[in-house]
Amino acid sequence: MEKNSALNVLHTACGNEIEPYTNRPYSDYISDIVYKHEEYVIILDYTSSILQNDKEKITDSAKCLEAKLRKNHNLNFIIVTTSSIKHIAEPAKNKPKCVRKMVIIASGKGGVGKSTIAANIAVKLLHCGYKVGLLDADIYGPSIPAIFNTHDVVNLDVHDNIMEPITSNGLKIMSMGFLIKKSTAAIWRGPMTTKALHQLIMMTNWGELDYLIVDTPPGTGDIHLSLAEKYEIDGAIIVTTPQALATIDAERMVDMLNKVNIKIYGIVNNMAFIKVNGFFLEPFGKEEHINLLIQANTRNIISLPIDPKIQDLNTAKVIDKELYQITQWLCH
Ligand SMILES: Nc1ncnc2c1ncn2[C@@H]1O[C@H](COP(=O)(O)OP(=O)(O)OP(=O)(O)O)[C@@H](O)[C@H]1O
Ligand SMILES: [Mg+2]
Repeated sequence: MEKNSALNVLHTACGNEIEPYTNRPYSDYISDIVYKHEEYVIILDYTSSILQNDKEKITDSAKCLEAKLRKNHNLNFIIVTTSSIKHIAEPAKNKPKCVRKMVIIASGKGGVGKSTIAANIAVKLLHCGYKVGLLDADIYGPSIPAIFNTHDVVNLDVHDNIMEPITSNGLKIMSMGFLIKKSTAAIWRGPMTTKALHQLIMMTNWGELDYLIVDTPPGTGDIHLSLAEKYEIDGAIIVTTPQALATIDAERMVDMLNKVNIKIYGIVNNMAFIKVNGFFLEPFGKEEHINLLIQANTRNIISLPIDPKIQDLNTAKVIDKELYQITQWLCH
């Protein structure tokens, strides 16, 4: 049969067959007919019909047409398929207008060094010449203000509902601690936390930033879910210590991040060793992080020593090389 007349035959045949779920002729749903390997492929598109999100019925409907064309019209050189099910648009995610990358620092377990590492990474990025912001999203124990000695600053400058971040040597800092009193943190509930997070991220005058580093609380709670669902997060750095308990919690965090499609830049194995008289001791044991790396789909891992100098950001040269390596993870 000549190609054009074959197409006419197919259109007429589809017009004579009624789609069982919508009671309309199948011809209403034809989006294309293509000729491939001596067969005609009829592509049906249900995107503006009531079937649009019902994968099962759509598949059944296509099979049904194929059977009818073969049986009632003797058309054996056809395949009926469907264009993909309409993509349900996800609500647009937020990111401050001039922020290039938003990176979260997360752990699962508390006290493993998230805030310390977040602050060190932010300062290192700043020293590398980037424009950097540091957001402390820990509602229950904001510690970034203490690390930067800005603990007492609670009266933020606010113009037209937009808050001015605190600056420390060029680093822009905002913290849950600036919005809530420590004593009231325990009574904060999900919606309040979400609202405060929105204020910190979207209603702060971050200006132009290459990186906004977000320090998160321990666990996989409201803040993490809110960050994942509502904001355009470019990736995460996972902090753990060598103990099995910390690693298990880190795996839980990675699992959550995988579920919400947040990329993991790498793992920081904090407080992994201590150097005494030229010897390396591992006071917390040596936990293999193979599973964690596989689960996080990364090869990037860095071990940091136990060293009180890490707490003093201006003299934290002890981990300068490692911090540089971490900044390199963020470039990809
Ligand atoms: N590598 C390190 N060497 C020595 N001390 C460290 C190191 N990393 C973190 N610390 C110290 O350990 C303590 C806990 O660190 P930090 O507050 O950063 O942990 P965190 O994971 O943010 O805790 P939280 O879960 O409570 O927010 C702090 O006193 C910090 O100075
Ligand atoms: Mg912390």
